[in-house]
Amino acid sequence: MKKLTFGIDKMAFYTSHYYLDLQDLAAKRQVPVKKYQQSIGQHQISIADPSTDIVTLAANAAQRIVQESDIPDIDLVLLATESSIDESKAAGIYVHDLLHLSPYCRVVELKEACYSATAAIQLALNMIRLNPTKKALVLAADVAHYDLNSAGEPTQGCGAVAMLLSANPKLLAIEEGSGYYTQHAMDFWRPTYRKTARVDGRFSALTYLDALRHTWQHYTQQTQRRYQQHDHFGLHTPFPAMVEKGYGFLAKLNDIQLSHDNVQQQTATFLRYARRCGNCYTASLYLGLISLLDNSTHDLTNQRIGVFSFGAGYVAEFYSMRVQPGYKKYLTPDVNRKLLDQRQRLTVDEYEYFHEFAFPTNGHDLVLPTYAGGTFRLAAIEDEQRIYQCKQ
Ligand code: HMG
Repeated sequence: MKKLTFGIDKMAFYTSHYYLDLQDLAAKRQVPVKKYQQSIGQHQISIADPSTDIVTLAANAAQRIVQESDIPDIDLVLLATESSIDESKAAGIYVHDLLHLSPYCRVVELKEACYSATAAIQLALNMIRLNPTKKALVLAADVAHYDLNSAGEPTQGCGAVAMLLSANPKLLAIEEGSGYYTQHAMDFWRPTYRKTARVDGRFSALTYLDALRHTWQHYTQQTQRRYQQHDHFGLHTPFPAMVEKGYGFLAKLNDIQLSHDNVQQQTATFLRYARRCGNCYTASLYLGLISLLDNSTHDLTNQRIGVFSFGAGYVAEFYSMRVQPGYKKYLTPDVNRKLLDQRQRLTVDEYEYFHEFAFPTNGHDLVLPTYAGGTFRLAAIEDEQRIYQCKQ
């Protein structure tokens, strides 16, 4: 009998209908645009309107992959985020309700900065290995928010990636063995009373590389796989230049010297969507994988992708996956490109209005206008409850 494989059967992303072009931000902040577009590598960032949050992002992504026939088999929903909307209730329960999933299901929210989607995948895979007829829906959703006029401002963004995990997956089989590492570091955090993250940007870039070194060493010890046995690498994407630095750093750890041009060429397809979407924290690594699958011009069948997941604070993991035969049939590159192309460009004033939009903190009700984009929206706050709506 053929050995079962486990991994990502379907995946899709969703982002806000609005974006800020960093040319406009550069002009307003009086920063040379070259700094944003070349040194940071970011061209546009998706901006969440007030009716867009992790629930609507995740539900809009998930509805692209969850079919009626999947529902009886999904008995686990894990929503990974660091942009929580409630201190008690799991955001995934709203998504579960909006998608009419089966009540015979476990739903939990996970947090550890940008790492938590990887934790969700590893936990879900172990559950499916025990019961291979079942499926798990992993939702990675975030809104990256830094203070206006701060160094982090051009590295904001928002988005969600929904992944259906199963036995014998159609897209990516996750291989056994991984390297992981935890170390207490105050590089990035967000106290519960703050809407925006506190960050020591330059220190966080060092912890990212430190985590890459530790997890790579642990991964190679655990799996005996060598650098050359990987066809691609996908790295957590806080902003594109960080991935390029990490990519060169990983090569150097393995005694390989890559030129800047080599690094740019080898990371280009992975970073294509990120350059337009911005950081969507825990979803960003998985957005990169979608971008790599969608935009590679050659056939990736059976190729191995080494994946580095990093959550500031910090927890990190390095693991690998193989692209499955026939994967192309299950991709939707045209829909993905359209999603990005059809977004509406905001002026800096409009962006600042969305950024500073304040929800009541005194128990008052609020009715939100209907903004463009997506099927699901946050419609109102009533009696301190979030009321979501399906537009169609
Ligand atoms: P900064 O203050 O703009 O940093 O903050 P900088 O002054 O070092 O400038 C950045 C680059 O622009 C440098 O290039 C400068 O030389 C260049 P590099 O030396 O790195 O190649 N530059 C210019 N280029 C052209 N024209 C100019 C000019 N001036 C300077 N005039 C920083 C940059 C990324 C630190 C900031 O945006 C930030 O704090 N971002 C948020 C934190 C972050 O993304 N950290 C990444 C690692 S941590 C992580 O990945 C976790 C995270 O995703 C969260 C989570 O886990 O939940 C963030």
